[in-house]
Amino acid sequence: MSLFDIIFTGSEQALAACKSIVEKTVAERGENAKVAFPGTAYSLPTIYAATGKKINTLAELKNVIPMIESLIVKEQNLEKALNAGLATAVAAEVIEACKYVGENTPYAEPCIGFIPDTVIRSLGVPLVTGDIPGVAVIIGEAPSDEEAAKIIKSYQTKGLLVFLVGKIIDQAINTKIKMGLELRIIPLGYDVTSVIHVVTVAIRAALIFGNVQPGNLAELLKYTKERVPAFVNALGPLSELVVSAGAGAIALGFPVITDQDVQEVPENLIVQKDHDKIAATSLEARGIKIKITEIPIPVGFAAAFEGERVRKEDTFAEFGGSRTTAWELVKMREISEVEDHKIEIIGPDIDTLEPNGGRLPLAILVEVAGKNMQQDFEPVMERRIHYFANYTEGVMHLGQRDIIWIRISKSTYEAGFRLKHIGEVLYAKMLDEFGSIVDKVQVTIITDKDKVEKLLNEIAKPIYEARDARLAGLTDESVDTFYSCLLCQSFAPAHVCIVTPERLGLCGAVSWLDAKATKELNPAGPCQPIEKGECADEVKGSWPTVDKAVSELSHGATTKVNIYTIMEDPMTSCGCFECICGIMPEANGVIIVNREYSGITPLGMTFGELASTTGGGVQTPGFMGHGRHFITSKKFLYADGGLARVVWMPKELKEALKDKLQQRAKEMGIDNFYDMIADETVGTDPDTVVEFLTKVGHPALTMDPML
Ligand code: SF4
Ligand code: NI
Ligand code: NI
Repeated sequence: MSLFDIIFTGSEQALAACKSIVEKTVAERGENAKVAFPGTAYSLPTIYAATGKKINTLAELKNVIPMIESLIVKEQNLEKALNAGLATAVAAEVIEACKYVGENTPYAEPCIGFIPDTVIRSLGVPLVTGDIPGVAVIIGEAPSDEEAAKIIKSYQTKGLLVFLVGKIIDQAINTKIKMGLELRIIPLGYDVTSVIHVVTVAIRAALIFGNVQPGNLAELLKYTKERVPAFVNALGPLSELVVSAGAGAIALGFPVITDQDVQEVPENLIVQKDHDKIAATSLEARGIKIKITEIPIPVGFAAAFEGERVRKEDTFAEFGGSRTTAWELVKMREISEVEDHKIEIIGPDIDTLEPNGGRLPLAILVEVAGKNMQQDFEPVMERRIHYFANYTEGVMHLGQRDIIWIRISKSTYEAGFRLKHIGEVLYAKMLDEFGSIVDKVQVTIITDKDKVEKLLNEIAKPIYEARDARLAGLTDESVDTFYSCLLCQSFAPAHVCIVTPERLGLCGAVSWLDAKATKELNPAGPCQPIEKGECADEVKGSWPTVDKAVSELSHGATTKVNIYTIMEDPMTSCGCFECICGIMPEANGVIIVNREYSGITPLGMTFGELASTTGGGVQTPGFMGHGRHFITSKKFLYADGGLARVVWMPKELKEALKDKLQQRAKEMGIDNFYDMIADETVGTDPDTVVEFLTKVGHPALTMDPML
């Protein structure tokens, strides 16, 4: 059989399976049964993106079948073969959707099945920064468990996001590979059709970040090909179904690399029978370049380890977490004061602990010097300690400054990891990421209790306090430069963030100081200064220079931005925002919802649904994505009445910001504002919320009408 015939056969099998499962589901549940994937505002994403139609019932799902049929035209050319591949993708989505009818969790541990929108949004930043350099989809089965583990680990250590489909999941289990969404090794399911759950991740990225309009198939395919760095490894015997699914992947722009004999399609379908070379061949085929920093430590180091938690029973050594004093500090020094690559341990190392481990005080002092170094970059670098420590296999780091909490796991200790290795990690990564501003780095790790406490009071605390004072004095008025950030343009090509001292990037990861440091590190990079110049409107936050920059940087998509209002020409959103706020007309105010909150809001929508109304670099007055810390900024909705407009927030967000909310409201002359903001425990329907606001005398009710 020719390759094309194999694909057509596979597509017809998918079609037949799809017809029969739809029929069966209709027979069991009735035509009006609801069809939906959990946690998405994009319906059945493949069908929605390709046709613009949202599917809500089994009857509507049935109507998709003729569309699948029409995509299978058995002519011997690549175009028709790729269309047949898309037919298989749509059929797979229909089959998977049927699994979710009447049952919300058809997938059992460890399989994940459908991936909610919020996960995709949270992947935005690591993908644009290159922390996740690509996405590997492995389908099938390697010749042995060991070879499976080797391939998976080679991707994991390079930071790739790895999806598993089929028997390879068991091979990963057999070799004790830890899996899960947060570990970035994601077992989807055993059926080939479950591969659609990674396909819809790519498709929703186009809808969320790319502003691709549903129904515009050509734009969709262009987006996934150009902007989603994914590829497929099809291992073990290839069924016709797998081959036709592979054609679907190729149609989306994802090369398929297989260890089987097939007719190759240059750059798209590649045979690599040497399992040691599959990873390298795949990365090359997709054009993914991996920056490797060799760090001399006995355990793995990769962004993929970030989400790994070290549980109490697996912990060997523990520092801080309010049980011992622990702090960390990055300090700028004169060139002559720093000895490059000096790593000094003062006090007992972890191998002096009891055989079962224990706790120690800890101070991590990273001293840096370089002619381009500025004091303002100290906190920027210091915050990276959290990530660098977490990227270390078996090391967990929480918090910052003098509230850190670090755990080192038993297995990492047994592998030979000692305190000096924390120094090696910090040394290597600080130079790696900040090499253009620092020339020398030395790390001192102290576990001697008296010394840890003495230096905390003598060195660290005064510096933390000085930094806080500096930050408090950093206002939009006190600087003459703002920054643009274009990092997210790799996924949201029309989006521009304007970062000011009082308004951090909507991802929450880029403050004005970060942007300033980024410019210094990478002069032609994503953050560029904007001279403020003349202000056109101090209340709305409008500067001609900002408009000009936004206009240029968005390639004309946005020509005017007001930084301090949600009502008129608000800042655009890319898709990776931490929070979204939107007008609640009944309350004459706004609600704010954070990404982690999965329930419904008083606007009748979830975070995901609200988020889908904005994003992709489009201005949507009345809705705005923003960072968590922007909420308590003086400039938050400054032109619209500020924080006093906030009528509802999820409890968790409200708690987390409690002190700052109280403080900021007090500055505005409102006492106990925290108690005036409704949350889900008050209610989520507008009447209940308004009743509550009236009872507590919420200021928004008597402010100028918003609309
Ligand atoms: Fe993306 Fe804006 Fe954050 Fe930059 S500041 S990474 S553009 S969200
Ligand atoms: Ni870790
Ligand atoms: Ni973004």
